[in-house]
Amino acid sequence: MSDKKDEGMITNVALKDIANLCKRRGFIFQNSEIYGGIGSVWDYGPLGVELKKNVKNQWWKSMVYDRNDVEGLDAAILMNPETWKASGHISSFSDLLVDCLKCKKRFRVDKISGKACPECGGELTSPRSFNLMFKTQAGSVEGESQDVYLRPETAQGIFVNFSNILNSSRKKPPFGVAQTGKSFRNEITTGNFTFRSREFEQMELEFFVKPGDDDKWYEHWVETRFNWYLGLGIKKENLRLREHAPDELAHYAKKCHDIEFLFPMGWSELEGIANRTDYDLKQHSKISGSDLSYFDEAAKERYVPYVIEPSGGVDRAVLAFLVNSYRSEVVRDKNRTYLSLDRRLAPIKAAVLPLLKNKPEIVEMAHRIRDDIKGSYRVVYDDTAAIGRLYRRQDEIGTPYCITVDVDSLTDGKVTVRERDSMEQLRVDASGIKGFFMEKMDSANQKGGSE
Ligand code: GAP
Repeated sequence: MSDKKDEGMITNVALKDIANLCKRRGFIFQNSEIYGGIGSVWDYGPLGVELKKNVKNQWWKSMVYDRNDVEGLDAAILMNPETWKASGHISSFSDLLVDCLKCKKRFRVDKISGKACPECGGELTSPRSFNLMFKTQAGSVEGESQDVYLRPETAQGIFVNFSNILNSSRKKPPFGVAQTGKSFRNEITTGNFTFRSREFEQMELEFFVKPGDDDKWYEHWVETRFNWYLGLGIKKENLRLREHAPDELAHYAKKCHDIEFLFPMGWSELEGIANRTDYDLKQHSKISGSDLSYFDEAAKERYVPYVIEPSGGVDRAVLAFLVNSYRSEVVRDKNRTYLSLDRRLAPIKAAVLPLLKNKPEIVEMAHRIRDDIKGSYRVVYDDTAAIGRLYRRQDEIGTPYCITVDVDSLTDGKVTVRERDSMEQLRVDASGIKGFFMEKMDSANQKGGSE
């Protein structure tokens, strides 16, 4: 898409504008809002669920379908609690917290400066360790239930299935296992809309390699994942890599880079790529007693694979794509807000709009066009307002194409296709509209996004 319209546009949007749009248009709602909500838990509405699904589908396509060395998995959220002993989450997955003796608020030690409460100046307790995992009980017999945890990362479901996948898929290192799914953390520092939620979704790949090949694969995944965001339209100047200092590294990591996005609150982590070494497989071998090594028949060599892990947050990616695509401009003395979302991510790909809803032939033709192109894409028919308002509504939710049926369409068989970003209008034969639309969507799939 041409850059000409970027001049004079508001592109540095505030998080509250995004949150307002998300609520108004049905992307994201506060969870259980009618009861006053619950801290840092969010629901995705009719458009949010489409956007989120599109983000996950693009991730799955690039990680699984476009490659020949990755298999998929959908492991359960609840796991045998020994898992979390082995992974180190019971002993180390915690924040150091202090409580204010006066206002009773709780803070992460690393997020405050000074010795007094940042809210009321009150005296603070000495730091205490607070585990971030949610604990619950499994079992139906009173007194015989077992403490279990809601997983804080999807990764462990992959590690404990390492042998199952190896044996059933006949894969050999280097190969990976991809998974998307919910994770839970009892976060203390929240705020910033969905950025840090207590229930969120991850997209994780655990890529198993021969020790010694790990540095090479690490570079590969850092580059591949960085380019994935660029390919889906994240602006280069809003994306950067940051390497973790040695004292920042997680207990399992030899090296880690964060992919950071320039969110309205500043540069923040979108995804982490870590070299987890053989830590997890060795720990699970030790605690479970199952041998999780790999025997290389050709080289007659046994080893425990190293793991390269690109781990992204679905909710953070959704938020980044919303912030990145938000545009506001003045067109003929009127404000126009639109989401310049990549076509592959847009929740609705096209809206078919009748210019006059009281003319049955126009309405009938519009319905026919929608039925013709709906197929595997979300295409809507809308006649609930005047055309100007319908365009604005579709702009604001990022619909790349509006197809309008007017009086002339009944005689010349043509419809108007309006492109979201440029607002250019084109007359297209109604009989060829499906082909026109499919070609646009296909070119987005092949080349990446909006041209
Ligand atoms: N398996 C490695 C792992 O979980 P992490 O850096 O703790 O690493 C990976 O999390 C990604 O998951 C982050 O980059 C972020 O996108 C997402 N994430 C983590 N905590 C989150 C939270 N509370 N809310 C939303 N997304 C979160």
